[in-house]
Amino acid sequence: MAEAGIPGYAYGARELARSPVSLEELDLLRQTVLFTEEDERYLRMAGDVLEGRLDEVLDLWYGFVADHPHLVYYFSDREGRPIEEYLERVRGRFKRWVLDVCRRPYDQQWLDYQHEIALRHAREKKNRTDGVEAPEEIPLRYMISFIYPITATVRRFLEDGGHPEEEVEKMHQAWFKAVVLHVTLWSRPYAREGSF
Ligand code: HEM
Repeated sequence: MAEAGIPGYAYGARELARSPVSLEELDLLRQTVLFTEEDERYLRMAGDVLEGRLDEVLDLWYGFVADHPHLVYYFSDREGRPIEEYLERVRGRFKRWVLDVCRRPYDQQWLDYQHEIALRHAREKKNRTDGVEAPEEIPLRYMISFIYPITATVRRFLEDGGHPEEEVEKMHQAWFKAVVLHVTLWSRPYAREGSF
């Protein structure tokens, strides 16, 4: 089920490699971040709140990247000029990812696409999908530290959804856990063989 309309988005595509992480290992990771069925329910609620605000969320995240030369560098050519088409194509996939985080079942297909996204941030596959010549890898230290802005900034959007504070907090916690889970899986290409 490769999705039409979003350049390079390959969720469910046949040619994707199988994730080296097993469903059993995923289950233990879910337990480790305290991710429960209640979180799945609150993530779906968060998806409904965020759905109509995706462009604003993306504007905020992209504004954050644009304001930091050490981050926009990874979207730039050899002369250090941001590659607009690259930014735009990735933005489409990033936007779709927000809904995938909230709505997709975390099954084998999902796991396989997390493996693909991991490779796309790492030297194995970065730049290939969009045919660009940008830096070859996002350093692991930025992958991990980016969890904070990606988490902190969604709260104001969740607050605008008209839900009581207690539900806003639960949606936000579920989002935080989900982002940690994603980035944990995306850290695999950086780990020494046998150390993930
Ligand atoms: C691609 C999310 C960290 C730069 C993507 C995509 C998503 C995403 C959803 C598109 C995946 C797809 O192809 O379907 C995130 C999240 C991060 C994170 C949630 C951490 C919490 C970073 C950091 C940078 C970065 C720190 C550095 C500026 C990029 C680039 C691509 C990309 C350049 C395109 C990679 C390619 O060539 O295919 N990211 N990202 N990301 N991200 Fe990140």
